[in-house]
Formats: sequence, C-alpha cells, structure tokens
Amino acid sequence: MTGKGRVGILGSGVVGQQLGRGFAAHGFEVMLGSRDPRKLNAWRAATPGPVSTGTFEESAAFGEVVILATAGSATEEAIDLADPKNFVGKLVLDATNPLDFSHGMPPGLFLGTTDSLGERVQRKLPDAKVVKCFNTVGNTRFIDPKFREGVPPMLICGNDEPAKRRTDQILRELGWPGAMDVGGIDAARWLEAMVPLWVRVGRSLDTYEHAIRFVR
Ligand SMILES: NC(=O)c1ccc[n+]([C@@H]2O[C@H](COP(=O)([O-])OP(=O)(O)OC[C@H]3O[C@@H](n4cnc5c(N)ncnc54)[C@H](OP(=O)(O)O)[C@@H]3O)[C@@H](O)[C@H]2O)c1
Repeated sequence: MTGKGRVGILGSGVVGQQLGRGFAAHGFEVMLGSRDPRKLNAWRAATPGPVSTGTFEESAAFGEVVILATAGSATEEAIDLADPKNFVGKLVLDATNPLDFSHGMPPGLFLGTTDSLGERVQRKLPDAKVVKCFNTVGNTRFIDPKFREGVPPMLICGNDEPAKRRTDQILRELGWPGAMDVGGIDAARWLEAMVPLWVRVGRSLDTYEHAIRFVR
C-alpha cells in the first residue's frame, strides 16, 4: 500500500469524479468504478495522482474504504454488481440519496421516515461498516470546503464507532473540521431527508454551493 490508503468509488457521475479527484489530491490511491469504465478514460487522463478506473466489482475489491456514489434508485443494483463479498469488514461511505425526480424539481424522496438508503445498504452488507457521509453537501464543496460563514462539520451516522472515528480522520485529511456524529445508521432517514430541503434552500439562495450549519 502507498500513500494514505486505497479508496474504491462506485459511481461515474459528478459525485464519484469529484471525490476521486479529491481523495487522489490528498494522497489516497483511487479506483473509480462504472458499469462501463471506458466512459472514465477522459477523467483518468485529466486527473493527477494515483488514479485508475474499473468495474464496480474491481473498484469495490480494490478499496480498503469503499464509497457509494451511485444514483439512489440504483445503489442496491450497483452493490450486487460489485459483489457483497468485496465489502466484508470494510468502511463503506454512503454518499447516496433516495431522490425522486418523477415530479421534476425540486425532488422528493422515494424512501423515508421509516427506512433509508443508508439502512438498506447496511442490511445488504451486514459485514461492512456503513457510514452515511457526504450526502448533505454539494459536490463542489466535498474537498477543502470553503463557506463564507465558516465550514460546519460533516454530518455522519452509522452503527460502528471505530468506523465513524476513521471517517472523522478521513474528513480532516480532506480539509473538513471533522464529523458531527448524529447516531446509528437509522439516522440516515433524517440526513437523507435534509437533501430536498437543501435543494429548496439552494433555489432560494440562488446557489448550490451552500451547506446546512447548526448554530448555538
Ligand atoms: N450532486 C451532488 O452534489 C450530490 C451531493 C451529495 C450526494 N449526492 C448523491 O450522490 C449520488 C451520485 O450522484 P451523481 O449525480 O454523481 O450520479 P447519478 O447520475 O445520480 O448516478 C450515476 C451513477 O449511478 C450508476 N447507475 C445508474 N443506473 C444504474 C443501474 N441501473 N445499475 C447500476 N448502476 C447504475 C451509474 O453507473 P454507470 O457508471 O455504469 O453509468 C453511475 O455510476 C446520488 O445518489 C446523489 O443523490 C449528490
């Protein structure tokens, strides 16, 4: 192993690409995954650092930490393609949201209040340590975030305490002041529910480069 560790990312969209670029810039080895890795050739060519591309299965097998950055409605299908065996014992950072765009913008949720994608992922991967992370922040602010009113801690939740401490360390490596732990993976119900609100606030502020911050 070189650098700070190997990160496998499932997701070829803007979220996967931003996270891949950012983790590589901070000294992690990255494999970015897609059902069709050829679509990531341009990303790979343009991204400095130790980056590679692969299938979902190859990326999950590669990562000591695996990040889920797939469409919410496809997350469980992507895990099946990646093979649940490749997640055993690993920290899994779940950035996905169960957004429902069937009525256009702003989105609703196709799942919520009594269940969440975070819980579905943890049930599907009982031997992995799932931590909900990154889902409440816009992708342009994932890495070395800056906000005019100060950078809030990243809201996270999950069942495994050491996994949450490792997540806090990783976030600090990426320029965050750390994590705010809001509970077990069942709290993903409320972290995911914040996202339709985040979109509505963004429309009101006329920017998607904002974050939700709690003050006291
Ligand atoms: N946009 C943001 O700023 C932001 C911030 C935080 C969290 N999120 C969440 O992050 C996730 C990724 O968002 P995104 O905009 O980057 O990408 P996206 O367009 O929501 O998803 C693209 C990824 O989903 C995979 N996918 C789509 N249909 C699939 C299927 N039937 N089976 C397997 N995989 C499938 C695609 O696979 P292929 O590579 O094979 O095409 C691709 O890797 C979402 O859940 C989103 O809610 C977004």
